Amino acid sequence: MSLIGPDRNLAMELARVTEAAALAAARWQGRGDKEAVDQAAVDAMRAMLATLDIDGVVVIGEGEKDAAPMLANGERIGNGRGPLVDVAVDPVDGTRLTAEGGPGALAVLALAERGSMYAPGRLVYMDKIAVGEQGAGSVDLDAPVEENLRRVARATEKAVDDLTVIILDRPRNRPHIEAVRRAGARIRLIRDGDISAAIAAAAEGSGIDILLGIGGSPEAVTAACALKCLGGAMQCRLWPRDDAERAYAAEAGLDLDQTLTLDDLVRGEAVFFAATGVTPGELLDGVRYASGGAWTHTVVMRYRTGTVRYITAHHRFDRLSRITDIYGAGTVGAPPPPLEPPGRRTGR
Ligand code: FBP
Repeated sequence: MSLIGPDRNLAMELARVTEAAALAAARWQGRGDKEAVDQAAVDAMRAMLATLDIDGVVVIGEGEKDAAPMLANGERIGNGRGPLVDVAVDPVDGTRLTAEGGPGALAVLALAERGSMYAPGRLVYMDKIAVGEQGAGSVDLDAPVEENLRRVARATEKAVDDLTVIILDRPRNRPHIEAVRRAGARIRLIRDGDISAAIAAAAEGSGIDILLGIGGSPEAVTAACALKCLGGAMQCRLWPRDDAERAYAAEAGLDLDQTLTLDDLVRGEAVFFAATGVTPGELLDGVRYASGGAWTHTVVMRYRTGTVRYITAHHRFDRLSRITDIYGAGTVGAPPPPLEPPGRRTGR
């Protein structure tokens, strides 16, 4: 038997980047300024990304739908001295949530080998279905919602009315909501953040069984990186809003009928994912400030090994502020906090 041996796990390095973005964005929690949340996270992320030993290019950036501050598609990432990679970046998935003080916002970053991530171009939405490993062989985006629920119930050995379906609360998802109600399953409606929702559908013990509905295309590709690592399943299809988007798809060679599986969304084995909680959520706790510093909660994953790590980190603003101002350190010089992580951590 020939083994390749342990090698570099880029996901560990991604954690520092998502931590920085979360620390910077969390400063703006509840202050009502969505742009400031995004700007702080983008600036922190960009500064940390520059330190990575990779030759990366952003394939999944943000901002197409609302001209928010962003790491743009095509932007080069890293110091150029390392593997050629595609980058999916969402400095904050849930900028509005953060600005309003709502739950479940994440700073997210994923890498995969160059040329392996699906590029949805300017089509901002996809119809999505996502489940965990147990239900992986049983979902079909083309089947009616009721049928998918019956199949997932069978695969997970639950009754349909014990299933919980997570859905973005949008008028366009009304048909999904009504179909789930007709089938008798439970619903968890979320205001934003369907990367976290897709991961919850795939993560054991989250209490969520399926993600359904139309959400962001960049978020679909980014979530696919995590679901691939977790062994879940996801199927998506581009969802054009109007004839102009249909015409754009035809020009850009994007197939509106294609059912995109996890392997279409991100090919190959070199897939790495990291997310840090900005505001407290079911998957990860948010940034918690202590005297002179803050705690962050991060999940990192790698497809090849399937290892999923939860990292609780303590950050000291008195030390960090000597190096950089990207963390938005507000209490420089205060005494260091106790070394015990405060409170309960979620998502284990
Ligand atoms: P941002 O915080 O990055 O703007 O995204 C939040 C989000 O809820 C995503 O999780 C989701 O995929 C998308 O927006 C849905 O788009 P819209 O708000 O236009 O319905």
